[in-house]
Amino acid sequence: MNPISQALAERYSCRDFSNTPLESELLDDILNDAMRSPSWSNTQPYRIALAQGKTKEHLSAELQRRYAKAVKIQRGSTFTKLTAFISGNDGLPKGDFKQALSYPDELQKRRLVTAKGLYSLLDIQRNDADKRDAQTGRNFDFFGAPSVLFVFVHDGLGVYSVLDAGILLQSIMLAAQSRGVATCSQGALALWRAPLDKHFDIPRDYKLLCGISLGYASEHLVNTYKSERLPVKELLIPSR
Ligand SMILES: Cc1cc2nc3c(=O)[nH]c(=O)nc-3n(C[C@H](O)[C@H](O)[C@H](O)COP(=O)(O)O)c2cc1C
Repeated sequence: MNPISQALAERYSCRDFSNTPLESELLDDILNDAMRSPSWSNTQPYRIALAQGKTKEHLSAELQRRYAKAVKIQRGSTFTKLTAFISGNDGLPKGDFKQALSYPDELQKRRLVTAKGLYSLLDIQRNDADKRDAQTGRNFDFFGAPSVLFVFVHDGLGVYSVLDAGILLQSIMLAAQSRGVATCSQGALALWRAPLDKHFDIPRDYKLLCGISLGYASEHLVNTYKSERLPVKELLIPSR
């Protein structure tokens, strides 16, 4: 099989990693490959913060603490929500980009198919808020991954830096996959910016876009989920 086709076919979002660390040369190779990604006028408008070991543990603890607060607020009464808002509770999402999206019907349908598929595989019922929250919460222990990359984009290039970062992200995932390294892109890791500032000197003008966890996949059932795709026929806009 063509190696690119193979990496594309085999890549999936890994949601449970083994605790085997990632060799630093391997991570270097993945990032070196990914840096061949094209970008707008070759501006390469992104930077990455790599979290491993103690830094990763501290970040995970802080993100999990905030997530637990967020769940409490979300499940609470209007009064709880209002109080949280007024007091600036640090469980309230405070990222560089807004994530409270309202999904158009056409997109929401696909989102639900994916969520239902994943949750039914894990035997999580629609009304089981505890289990659902616990599964979402796993984002913040990086699904057990040994290495996490936080992706920042330059604010000055607007949407084009985000576009370029998307290309970089895919390059990282394919470069990793082709070496047997599993990945999970995580928008959830951009819900709070402040924890990152505690550990990294992030250059001015750079905004936190998302994270990506890397490591070796465990044997967990969650990793057998295969998400669906639109057929190319539906991707293509018919000509008049
Ligand atoms: C930019 C981006 C952000 C994502 N954020 C999350 C996330 O926060 N948590 C998560 O579990 N999966 C996340 N995903 C994974 C998607 O849900 C996944 O790519 C999609 O369902 C298709 O499944 P596949 O990656 O297994 O092919 C994200 C993917 C991308 C590209």
